[in-house]
Amino acid sequence: MSFELFSLKEKISMITGSSKGLGRSAALALAKVGSDIAVCGRNQTDIDTVVLEIEALGRNASGFVFDVTQKESVRQGVDAIMAHFGRIDILLNNAGTNHRVPVLEYPEEQWDRIIATNLKAYYLVAQAVVPQMITRGYGKVINMGSILGHIGLPNQLAYASAKGGVEQMTKVMALEWAKSGVRVNTIAPTYFETDMVSQIRNDKERFAFINDRTPMGRWGQLEEIEGVVIFLATPASDFITGQSVIIDGGWTAW
Ligand SMILES: NC(=O)c1ccc[n+]([C@@H]2O[C@H](COP(=O)([O-])OP(=O)(O)OC[C@H]3O[C@@H](n4cnc5c(N)ncnc54)[C@H](OP(=O)(O)O)[C@@H]3O)[C@@H](O)[C@H]2O)c1
Repeated sequence: MSFELFSLKEKISMITGSSKGLGRSAALALAKVGSDIAVCGRNQTDIDTVVLEIEALGRNASGFVFDVTQKESVRQGVDAIMAHFGRIDILLNNAGTNHRVPVLEYPEEQWDRIIATNLKAYYLVAQAVVPQMITRGYGKVINMGSILGHIGLPNQLAYASAKGGVEQMTKVMALEWAKSGVRVNTIAPTYFETDMVSQIRNDKERFAFINDRTPMGRWGQLEEIEGVVIFLATPASDFITGQSVIIDGGWTAW
């Protein structure tokens, strides 16, 4: 087995929502195996911090501020990345957010916001990025799903609906682009300690529920996302497309 299989030397990766959380961890992981990185988000200060972290690893990085839910904003962001790096070899659709209330109380504007960020944005970004991958005959799209695309939990109406949609979106994209050399897969994580889930992390009952449900008895550590991101982004996974890798300490094995 060659380490070239797990190398992204001279590749360019674009990661939405890489200004913090799992996206930041994924960006650092891909930089560690040689990729230059387009760091994306809405907060310039957070983006600048991650750019410096990647540069400290010896890779090139640049920050791009745009809103993934707005088509024009996405186009401008992707155009700016193309102008800076010349191409995008790997796209990680990762930006996400949540709103947790029971179905009967779920506000329509929150439904629209969660679906726009966690589902619609993935196709808007892919539409803007993938044509240049098809032209070159090679590319990797990774869509960040969730364990909630595979199981249900109370108070997760829009989020679980969006993440279930991501699973299906991945399959459709994979089928359409398989002959063009563009592979599309989903990563579906359990709970990892990031800003998005800090409310649940601070709720002793919810925290314990998640630990109890997980055969390995704990939440994911941020660095535990790295292996699967590297695998799906590198040539090591070139014959894998349309799949979902669940990273959940065994939760869905029950
Ligand atoms: N943490 C978990 O337990 C967990 C579990 C399963 C799946 N996931 C998934 O992993 C992904 C990352 O989650 P996380 O926990 O790392 O969240 P996080 O720490 O809150 O980070 C979210 C990222 O998305 C960006 N973002 C949000 N809305 C955006 C928008 N409209 N336009 C552009 N960027 C936007 C944020 O940028 P700004 O801060 O600049 O807005 C930030 O960089 C999400 O898709 C989430 O569903 C997380």
